[in-house]
Amino acid sequence: MTDLILKGGTVVNETSRDLADVAITDGRISAIGAPGSLGEAAEVVDVTRMHLIPGAIDMHVHFREPGYTHKEDWETGTRAAAMGGVTTVFEMPNTHPPTRSASEFRQKQDCAKKACVDFGVYGLLAEDNIEELPGLIDAGVNAFKCFMGNTFGNLPSPSTGAMLEGFEIIAGSGLRISLHAETASIMAWRQRKLEAAGLNDPLYHIAARPEVVAIEAVARAAILSEWTGARIHVLHISSAGELRPLAEAKARGVDITGETCPCYLFLNSGDYDRLGSVIRVNPPVREARDSAAIWDALQSGVVDMIATDHAPHTPEEKTNDIIWKADCGFPGVETQMPLMLTEVAAGRMTLEHYVRISSANPARAFGMWPHKGRIAVGALADITAVDMAREEVIAASRLHSRGKVTPFEGRKTVGAPVHTLVRGAFVQRDRQIVEGMAGHGRQVTDIQAMPAPNPQNVDQSLAYLLGTEGTT
Ligand code: DOR
Ligand code: ZN
Repeated sequence: MTDLILKGGTVVNETSRDLADVAITDGRISAIGAPGSLGEAAEVVDVTRMHLIPGAIDMHVHFREPGYTHKEDWETGTRAAAMGGVTTVFEMPNTHPPTRSASEFRQKQDCAKKACVDFGVYGLLAEDNIEELPGLIDAGVNAFKCFMGNTFGNLPSPSTGAMLEGFEIIAGSGLRISLHAETASIMAWRQRKLEAAGLNDPLYHIAARPEVVAIEAVARAAILSEWTGARIHVLHISSAGELRPLAEAKARGVDITGETCPCYLFLNSGDYDRLGSVIRVNPPVREARDSAAIWDALQSGVVDMIATDHAPHTPEEKTNDIIWKADCGFPGVETQMPLMLTEVAAGRMTLEHYVRISSANPARAFGMWPHKGRIAVGALADITAVDMAREEVIAASRLHSRGKVTPFEGRKTVGAPVHTLVRGAFVQRDRQIVEGMAGHGRQVTDIQAMPAPNPQNVDQSLAYLLGTEGTT
């Protein structure tokens, strides 16, 4: 018996868009068919006028637990994800303690038992834990994070020597290494001088971290990746300048992917006066010409995906007249989709392309394809129903994160996720959290180990979606 049919919606994948009903059984998509053709189910939900897209996969969130739960925890963080149409998150290791050994990884897995969406856990690659890397791999981390530049948590950035050895160890596992690609020594040097000169205004944050810190870091990491065969991912691309070493490395055949985040697309140096220390994030929000170049790179495929660097802090931690004392980052996992759908509604990007950068590409880059990242028979039923006409206003008071201060306060959006299903179960329904779903989230290690979905079924569903059913 079919568990659930989503009826009357428009199914959108990265290369297709069709009016189709979707049947779900045991957490997977069991059939896709012409409207009204799928028979009976235990529950039928009418999604007429909605678009059904694969749930977003956010490769970059900080849920702060263990250690900084006054900012966020796994329950509040994953509830924010569910409200944001995000069905899978990868969580960063700069917690307290950091995720730098197998035992600390197991401690994080314990915290993640409260998750209502699926998740991956990053292990740390730092100066002082190289000997722990094999243990982290064996214990089941889903990727690694390397902070080439200092940021919240002040974890020791690895020297190039430590990085190279780390890359050599991790290469054999096939796990991807995500890079905070800013070179620590340049930033420390610059910031020291600015602070000594008493230059404390928000815009000096950009001066402390000029574009070259990112350009140099991306180029260096790409060389180490090329040398060792380790797969890498450049987090939060903030500048036009980084795009060149990224594109060049791709052209050389380096297994490298890149992400950007909404703040680098929607904000620029003109917003520092208005937002003050709230806008402080690492890497910094830069110039309008950087945003324009990153938009182009998202369209062309040089930048592969959109993530959020969801980094909640309290109002006290975010507000300071001395920019160097304000914590960096802000929540994002709940606002990425409405912000990006607003651009889709305005015609800047197709919904198909949004599916590619928010779900299909992250699924492929981090080993979750073909189970995640698409709506097809056999795939996991991670589905977000979006209402492309729904107008909302972003407001801290409505966010589900614990740390709510956002630079997008007051921004109007068009297009919103109205239902979120993780493996066939609603975690958000009609813009409300579904209670009782803490613990529904699973670590994607299990998913990566599952057999691939039945290829025959996949073909059938594609034939339908491409309008060629019955012709083969
Ligand atoms: O601004 C940031 N905040 N950038 C990061 O890379 C880390 C993050 C945090 O954890 O607060
Ligand atoms: Zn981050």
